[in-house]
Amino acid sequence: MTTFKSFLLLLCISFSLQAHAQEKVTKREVLSLDKGWSFHKGDIPYPVIKGHNATYRNAKAGYVSGVASPNYDDSSWRIVNLPHDWAIEGNVNPDANLSQGYYDRGFGWYRRKFKLDPEDKGKHLEIQFDGISTHATIWVNGTVLHRNWCGYTSMYIDITPYATYGDEINTIAVRVDAEAQEGWWYEGAGIYRHTWLVKRSPLHIITDGVFAHPVKKNDSQWEIPVEVTLYNSGKLPADGEVEVTLFAPDGKQMTTQSKAVSVTALREGITHLPLTVSDPKLWSPDSPSLYKVKTTVKQNGIVTDEVETKCGFRTIRFDNNTGFWLNGENIKIKGVCNHQDHAGVGVAVPDAFWEFRLRKLKEMGVNAYRVAHNPVAKEFMAACDSMGIMVLDENRLFNTSPEYVRQLEWQVRRDRNCPSVILWSVFNEEPMQGTENGVEMVRRMYDVVKKMDPTRPITAAMNGGFFSKYNVSQAVDVGGFNYQIESYDRFHEENPELPLTSSEDGSAFMTRGEYKTDYETHVMDSYDTECAGWGATHRRAWKAVNERPWMAGCFYWTGFDYHGEPTPHRWPTVSSFFGIMDLCGFPKMAYYLHQAQWVKDKPILELVPHWNWPADSIGKPIKVMALSNADKVKLLLNGKEISEQQVDPYEMNTWFVPYKPGKLEAIGYKNGKIVSRTKVETTKEPVQVRLTPDRNNLAGDGRDAMPITVEVVDSKGRHVPTANHMIEFTVTGPAEIIGLGNGDPNCHEPEKGNKRSLFNGLAQVIIQSKEGAGTITLTASTPGLKPAAITINADQVAPIPSIAPEFPPMLLNKWVASPLSTEKPDATRQIADNDMNSWQPVAGNELIKLENANFVILRSTFNPYEAHKTEGGSILFKQLTGKAEIWLNGKQIGSKASDKEEDFTVEFPAVNERCDLRVLLNGTTDSAVGLKGNVTVRTKRAVK
Ligand code: GAL
Repeated sequence: MTTFKSFLLLLCISFSLQAHAQEKVTKREVLSLDKGWSFHKGDIPYPVIKGHNATYRNAKAGYVSGVASPNYDDSSWRIVNLPHDWAIEGNVNPDANLSQGYYDRGFGWYRRKFKLDPEDKGKHLEIQFDGISTHATIWVNGTVLHRNWCGYTSMYIDITPYATYGDEINTIAVRVDAEAQEGWWYEGAGIYRHTWLVKRSPLHIITDGVFAHPVKKNDSQWEIPVEVTLYNSGKLPADGEVEVTLFAPDGKQMTTQSKAVSVTALREGITHLPLTVSDPKLWSPDSPSLYKVKTTVKQNGIVTDEVETKCGFRTIRFDNNTGFWLNGENIKIKGVCNHQDHAGVGVAVPDAFWEFRLRKLKEMGVNAYRVAHNPVAKEFMAACDSMGIMVLDENRLFNTSPEYVRQLEWQVRRDRNCPSVILWSVFNEEPMQGTENGVEMVRRMYDVVKKMDPTRPITAAMNGGFFSKYNVSQAVDVGGFNYQIESYDRFHEENPELPLTSSEDGSAFMTRGEYKTDYETHVMDSYDTECAGWGATHRRAWKAVNERPWMAGCFYWTGFDYHGEPTPHRWPTVSSFFGIMDLCGFPKMAYYLHQAQWVKDKPILELVPHWNWPADSIGKPIKVMALSNADKVKLLLNGKEISEQQVDPYEMNTWFVPYKPGKLEAIGYKNGKIVSRTKVETTKEPVQVRLTPDRNNLAGDGRDAMPITVEVVDSKGRHVPTANHMIEFTVTGPAEIIGLGNGDPNCHEPEKGNKRSLFNGLAQVIIQSKEGAGTITLTASTPGLKPAAITINADQVAPIPSIAPEFPPMLLNKWVASPLSTEKPDATRQIADNDMNSWQPVAGNELIKLENANFVILRSTFNPYEAHKTEGGSILFKQLTGKAEIWLNGKQIGSKASDKEEDFTVEFPAVNERCDLRVLLNGTTDSAVGLKGNVTVRTKRAVK
């Protein structure tokens, strides 16, 4: 008997332990938080806290007061979807900073509310901000959870301990300080990258927790030394099994490994699962083959977490004599540097634009990209991997304090699987580069990077200090030259062992479509004659790198123009002149120049300038340049040969041709054979607007976006390169215009709206889909010309998994009831201020019995939200029982004729003062009337 009892006891204990050991298991969900943020431009100061009680509460978790507090009234704030850049929504201002494109930045507040399912209890919950410009403070449910002092790093915030579930609302509040500046270029303002909520099992792979970068072992053997970092947010130690499986680009499963793991509660666990592979398909710019490592965590045989990591097999080597080697092949790096903004959208660049911009660069012959001077969006990195663009991945701030080391570690951890990344850069042009302090700092940052990624070399982009006794080239794997062409040879001679690359060169100036420099009007010609004092023309910069085999390559400043840094000008110029393309991605002459120098596998031939000169130019010499990769180019005007020239692959070819309207034609020859032809023609007057979309379809997910080229054409359909018409746009169907541009650095027209002038024949309008399928029609018109209309299909696609925003209404749960009566009482009757007794509090959600009576009045009061003051609102009575008249501040606003239990809504107009709400209820004697459900006061807020 005793034994049986103790057996029962043991059974109970083990049952209860098992019940306890049942942590929540779930599949990872990655949900967008981009939609429905309430936004306030400008700062709202923190309240001044006084008084002991208030001061005491203010010091407690969950009790922040003021605008960060969950119950702050944000009802009048604007609703925005992310990514969002409020700076670009404004107008340029001569008093603002020229480096930031003369855009005002300032402060802003964002708030986002959402519900969590009671089922989510026990899961690990993380919110992620991919990028906020510039300093951000983030509260969740009244507790400050993160401060981020960098506009380019992501924030991953564990909100599990703070979350509430069911009908209770979770509130995120973000204060953004965009007065803070980290760059000397346009940095935008606001939450300008995506935001996410990630739900995972307590035992899960941490964010960026898989390191799966292949390493070559011998001629045919490779290894992926997969490292998986897990975290257990549960209450008990967790056991599981981690499995990694490699899939080839065609989806075929290659190899797999698994391992048992056990992770203590609230600890991380790291496990290694090497995979070996023979003869994989290699990744390169020409053939960017991507493999996939699928990592799963299983508990009790059930998959509880899963992550897919793209990777690529390639070798890289920087050689002190021969430059750069990719997969055993000696190639020149043909790179460009870029910032991250685009016309019309500022830094809130739609994901699809990364593909658009990289496609333009690739067509130009670019094989590499330096992310200047900061980490970029992860969607950009993924596009480089899949499109085959090598990346020089650069850190933002030169600083070895714990906060900045954390930021550097984040960058390396996030990007170290990208086959595109060939080189890390720890800084750009730091004044300490030629000092012992600088060397000590680089040594430390070098070590941080190497610990996390032993496979890639490290550089620092130096623009001086090269010959100082102490300089940071002594602490890196590859010496990085910004400009300083005249020092290339001496430095190489004195440091023959150090591999070298240009990390930045060029800084030449051009205005698209302009052919005469005018310092008065801030216009730079397109003949590659103008450059910064420290820089070089396109042709000189490339020659300097290309003629030196030990220079790994170039990174031209810049591929695209960007807002800000209007060097060599200032107001009224608001954006840069450095781009090979303008702010919209329209090619300047430099585009064809580089294309001629870099593209080998197809004939390139372009002519500049256009051939639309005014009548008084007739007979005067016009400078003509041909950009080609042919051996010889012949130039003809109106069918008559001007001359044939041998092509100089660095300088290209120049003629001075007396102007005569008509057709200027070039013919390219290779080995005596015609390989290319091009022409520029004098057009007639423009007669019609033309729109050319980048694609015919948009995904109907509310996120996809595309640029559309705007121009005017003559009666023969020819582009008119000198046109500057103001064009107006209208869009119908499931899309909206999110930005406008024309590439003119001196243009002050707003980049939002529905109007933009052409600049030298071109403008760009950017449209973004709304959710759902349909036909989008964009029309463009200008007085006197035939308008253009195009249709684009918005395709039905699966919606982006998201967390719905909540705009919680005000709950009225404090009611008093009048005495019962048989006569209809006056619903507006006043209650004396000292009368505490004749009206009695009534419990919400309970009916009142009309004992020997037929009438009762219920009363509640509330302060209107800001939105009610301007727009009015509505009141929803759930399960209102009995006939009723609704009165607000002495005026009847609704009546319910039926005595049945029904949900009932009344609208009310804008109201400024404290509201006195009365419900006059009427029923048969002894019936029950009243408020069975909640009463809520609502605003007209909704998400677009
Ligand atoms: C470099 C700098 C770039 C840009 C460029 C303009 O010194 O690294 O960010 O300012 O000059 O020429």
